Order: sequence, then structure tokens, then C-alpha cells
Amino acid sequence: MFAVTATQTDPDNPLAGLTLGEHPDPKTPDGWTTVTVKAAALNHHDLWTLKGVGIRQDRLPIVLGCDAAGLDEDGNEVIVHSVIAGDTYSGADETLDPKRSLLSEVYDGTLAERVAVPRRNLVPKPAALSFEQAACLPTAWLTAYRMLFDKAGLQPGSTVLVQGAGGGVATALIALGRAGGYRVWVTSRSAEKRERALQLGADQAFETGARLPERVDAVMETVGQATWDHSLKALKPGGRIVVSGATSGAVPPADLNRVFFLQLSVIGSTMGTRDQLARLAVFLEQTGVRPLIDRTLPLTEAREGFAALESGDVFGKIVFTV
Ligand SMILES: NC(=O)c1ccc[n+]([C@@H]2O[C@H](COP(=O)([O-])OP(=O)(O)OC[C@H]3O[C@@H](n4cnc5c(N)ncnc54)[C@H](OP(=O)(O)O)[C@@H]3O)[C@@H](O)[C@H]2O)c1
Repeated sequence: MFAVTATQTDPDNPLAGLTLGEHPDPKTPDGWTTVTVKAAALNHHDLWTLKGVGIRQDRLPIVLGCDAAGLDEDGNEVIVHSVIAGDTYSGADETLDPKRSLLSEVYDGTLAERVAVPRRNLVPKPAALSFEQAACLPTAWLTAYRMLFDKAGLQPGSTVLVQGAGGGVATALIALGRAGGYRVWVTSRSAEKRERALQLGADQAFETGARLPERVDAVMETVGQATWDHSLKALKPGGRIVVSGATSGAVPPADLNRVFFLQLSVIGSTMGTRDQLARLAVFLEQTGVRPLIDRTLPLTEAREGFAALESGDVFGKIVFTV
């Protein structure tokens, strides 16, 4: 089958290991099934893999991609949940299984004509969502849903700051936060992205690092080092930072005096459960909110999408059709 794989890793030149071409069909162990991929979305995770972050060299070549929507073996329209629990895990939250992986870390991912997944990882796709829209949900949108509605501990009407307006997770946070009744403030380095964030539903948009009119109840952080200091300073006493990514670096000064004196909480968040993915799909169906797609490309032109993501020239999700 045709697939987009990582054949080598290079922290300085990630696209050097990006390979498009034939790859063996997926194998389906007991309890697994094959999905015919109709659309698959790109995530920063795919660039991290090509940089050698979160991937073992002996797994290469591996099919990239965490997100897909397609048809199951009976022709039903499905969304693929990307969190693969270990064989023996029996808890309610597979993201907490120490043996869990995401598609494309241990098992082949979704940027292919077909992908194999455990049968329980399939979620019905609402008819109201296109395959392209549904393909945006399993990583960026699920991560945003859990950050906002599970980890942030906010009541509707609270003020939440989203750092780095243009990212896949950030655009999801803006749209979901607005629909959930929060006052959403955003930052971006780019005036154009700030304007687009306002159109997407943000209440106010600020330059990265700018002083805010007042302190916020919670900050949604995926940028990391470049915005961490601002995130700490933006919070009210007792406020929370929910962090799910560190695109610009992972080791900023912790500023512990501020953390304890203002009794701030720093809360990590990763992906979400299968049940949260199913609820996210229903949330979109009920609210009319739809994932913002920056561009749609045929999978055969995946290289163009990777280059755009690497350069930061995106607002919303890049989706590949198969
Ligand atoms: N834990 C999880 O489960 C999970 C799930 C999804 C994503 N993530 C992580 O979350 C991060 C974002 O993912 P994504 O797919 O949304 O990535 P993305 O689309 O590439 O997000 C990039 C955004 O980050 C901002 N940014 C990047 N470098 C910056 C810098 N030096 N200073 C200020 N802002 C900067 C940019 O904002 P502006 O250009 O608007 O300023 C840009 O729009 C990634 O690191 C990813 O690995 C984690």
C-alpha cells in the first residue's frame, strides 16, 4: 500500500527522513481490525518523530500519523482513537497506562491507505462531520478538549489564555473554549494570526508576551519555553496552567517563588480517552463547531504539508486525503 514513513531521523533536518512510497500492508493481531483511511491529519508529533523525539531507532521505518477517519471492515464511518493501551491494561484511562503508545510510535500510523488498530479504538463518525473534519479530532482536538473540559477545572464564564494562536491544538482550544462559554484570550507573534483568532471566536488577541488587561483563571500552554514566563505571570492567584506541549523548548526557568506564593497549579495533559473522543465528536455535532482546516492535500503531496508545518506557516490543521 502507499504510505508516508519515517525512514531515518535527524534533529536538524527532519524532512530528510520523510519517505513516500510502498509499505507492507498492516498486520492485525487478535482483537485488532483494519481501517481504510479516507482522511488523515498532520500533527507536530510527526515532525518530532522525524527529529528522533519519542521514537526508538529499531522501530524505523514506521508509518507516520496519529489521526485518521475512514471505513471499518463493515463499511461503517469511523474515527480512529490513537492511544494504544498495553495488552494487560484494564484501567479506565488508557492515557495513564505506562505501556501506552500513540499510533506511529510503536505501531504503524495513519498516513497510509490502511491502518490497523485495536477494535475498541474505533469511534463512530457523526454523519455531520466530513472525513477531513473528523480526521482532525484524535490528537489536536482531543488534547484541547481534555485540557479545557477535564484538566482546567473552569466554570463557564471564566477567562482562559491560549498561547500561540495558530497551532492545531491552539485553534481547537479557541473554538472549543468559545463554544463552552469561556472568555478566550489568545497570543500570537503574528498580526495576521491574531486577526484570524478573533474571527475564530477569541474575545481578545495580544502580541506574544504582552501585558494583559487583567489576570486570567487558566492558561493553555503548548508553546513551552518561549511563553512560559508570560503564562506564569498571566495567572490569578490559585490559577492553573494546563500544559500539553513545548514546541519552543521544554526547560524554561520554573520561577518557583511565583508558583508557591500565588498557589499556582501546573497540570500536565496528554491526548484523551476513547470516551472523551466519542464525547468530543458529539460536542461538535451538537454545537456546530467544526475543526479549522488550514489546507487539504492528497497524501501523495504530504511533503508540502510537512514543510508548511515545519516553517510554522499554518493556521489550523493540515489534512491529507487518501
Ligand atoms: N500532549 C499531547 O497529547 C499533545 C497533543 C497534541 C500536540 N502536542 C504538542 O503541542 C505542541 C503544539 O502542537 P500543534 O500540533 O498544535 O503544533 P503547531 O500547529 O505546530 O503549533 C505551533 C504554534 O506554536 C506557536 N509557536 C511555535 N514556536 C513559538 C515560539 N518560539 N514563540 C512563540 N510561539 C511559538 C506558534 O504560534 P504563533 O505563530 O501564533 O505565535 C504556532 O502557531 C507541539 O509541541 C505538540 O507536540 C501534545
